[in-house]
Parts: sequence; C-alpha cells; structure tokens
Amino acid sequence: MPPRRVSKTRTQPASADNSGFARAVVAWQRVHGRHGLPWQNTRDAYRIWLSEIMLQQTQVAAVIPYYARFLARFPELAALAAADEDAVLELWSGLGYYSRARNLHRAARAVASQHGGQFPADFEAVLALPGIGRSTAAAICVFAFGARHAILDGNVKRVFARCFGVAGYPGEAAVAEQLWRHADQLVPAKNVEAYTQGLMDLGAGVCTRSKPRCELCPLSAQCVAYKQNAISKYPSPRPRKVLPQRRVRMLVLLHAGQVLLEKRPSSGIWGGLWSLPELADGEHVDGACLSRYGVTPALHKVLPTVAHGFTHFLLDIEPLRVTVKRVAMRAQSPGVLWLPLADALGAALPAPVRRILAAL
Ligand code: ADE
Repeated sequence: MPPRRVSKTRTQPASADNSGFARAVVAWQRVHGRHGLPWQNTRDAYRIWLSEIMLQQTQVAAVIPYYARFLARFPELAALAAADEDAVLELWSGLGYYSRARNLHRAARAVASQHGGQFPADFEAVLALPGIGRSTAAAICVFAFGARHAILDGNVKRVFARCFGVAGYPGEAAVAEQLWRHADQLVPAKNVEAYTQGLMDLGAGVCTRSKPRCELCPLSAQCVAYKQNAISKYPSPRPRKVLPQRRVRMLVLLHAGQVLLEKRPSSGIWGGLWSLPELADGEHVDGACLSRYGVTPALHKVLPTVAHGFTHFLLDIEPLRVTVKRVAMRAQSPGVLWLPLADALGAALPAPVRRILAAL
C-alpha cells in the first residue's frame, strides 16, 4: 500500500554534513537489524500503533504474546472501538502500565467518531490522540506512512546522548530539547523506516544501558562517549530525590477458595483495575468486612508488606489475609467480585496486588 500524504513536521531538511550518521545506521540495520518482528512488513496503521503503545517501557519479548492475543480478539480498529473497557484491560493484564490500554481504547473510539474509523495519517492528528506522545506519533507516521519524523524514546535518547556527548538527565526539559535537536536534524531524506528501526535496534541490542557492545556499533567512529572512553557517563542518571512514603492496608478476603476483588474508580491511581479493598486510616477490619461486603471474618493474618514505587511517591501495602466464615450477601454491587484465586490472577490487577495474590 503506498504511503498516504502526511503533514509537515518539525523535522529539518536532511543536510549533507550529517548524512553520514543516517547512512551508517541504515546500512547497519539492513544487515544486522530486526526484520521479522510481528509489527514489521505492514503498513497497517492500527497494527503499528498497537505495537508502539505496547512497546512503551516494555521489551519486545514480553510484548509479542500480548500483541498476538490482542489482535486475535481485536483484529481491526472498529472491533477495539466497539469493545468494553474491561475486555481491553483483561487482554492487557500482566503487561502493566494500564493507562496505555485505557488510552488505546479511548483513542480507538476517537478515531471511529472523529476520523470515520480510518487511522489519521496527519502527524498532528496522530499526536492529538490519547496516549500518543511526540516520539510514538513519529514512529507510527514513519512505519505506517513512510513520513519523515524524528523518534526519541528512552533507548534512542541513550544512543544520541552517547554519540553526541550530551550530558545531563534526559528527563530534564533542557537536555531533552538538545537531544530532540539532534534527532530532528539527523532524519534522512530517504530510507526513514530503516533508519528509525535501526536506531531502535541499536538502542535495544548494541548501545545498551550496561555493557554496550561498542565493537559492533556502526557509530563508534563518531561516538563522543566512546572516543572519550566515558560510555558509562552518558546519559546522566535520574537525580536522586527522596520521595514521600505512604502506607495502606489491604484486605485479602478469602472464602471457599475465592478472593474478593473490587473495581477501582476509572480515574486516579490504577483507574479501572481490579484491586483489593483498602482500609481507611484507623478503620476497623471486622466492621469494614461486615458493613461493606456482608462477610463475617474468622481468622486474620498480617502478610509481608509489599513495596511499590510510583513516580511521585512510594507505597507500602500491608496486606491482611482474612478468612471469611460466613458470606451474607454475595457480590451484589457491580464493582465487587468473588473470584477463584486462579481467575483473579488473570484479571487486570495492579502489579503489587498481583504479587500479593500470587504469594498466597
Ligand atoms: N520499541 C519501540 N518501537 C519499536 C519497534 N517498532 N520495534 C522494536 N522495538 C521497538
């Protein structure tokens, strides 16, 4: 399928003096890069978009089985747009970062309602969809439409930081801006797909965070960090800062091999996921069990604390296993569910809740 026309980009015209970089990446990709990944060799924007979302903060090997299952269930964008959010979250279960799944679903509905069901080819329209940032929009437009755009995901930031000796933490706006300037200037006039894939392949397999394989790198002759023998200095790590710590008690209510799960509100932390009930500060266990879930507790056991890090705070979860003697009213609220333990592990759970249940 020929690429569709796309809008102008922030990407600069390719210039003669930086084309050696792109040429080296493209030539290396053709011989040493990846060519048979499930989302390659297609111009289907839906499939490419799905892959780019799943690949955010997640490695290729982990994504492949999820990608196959997701496409078997939702082979086309229309099927995803028509689905319930719960079905989408369930297929995402275990992949983590569930806001990606919620945004994917919202974006599918936006494409259905605002773009007649056709994934937009215009960079700004792609960027306006939920869950799609500048680098992801660029990757989609490159792979689906052959458009010239610069990508800059975490791995590629590392390649540029080392190659051009960009000091500082890439999470800082000024450092990211410098890296984007390099990224924009280096996009070649042609072979943009091989170039973009080459940057991803180098970042994932050669210019790795630890033990980079510089002897295999097509950029080593021009790499500032390599020439200075200072690879480990780039990029600078995230500055350490002390995050606030919170503590919460969670109830693991067990009855006849089943565990009680509660759906979280759709906005906020772990929005829309199934989780364990939380106790408010000072709330009494037995009272909460009876008034909220109609259950009479028999045995309590405090389980080991599970720590979970968010970007802005650290959470210690103190799970309290409660064996329930009597269930007066069962799962009457739509947001409450008793599930066999094995089924609960298949639900869309926050990662630390999954760890608590897996350890029971
Ligand atoms: N990481 C992000 N996008 C990717 C892609 N298209 N192929 C491999 N790894 C990736």
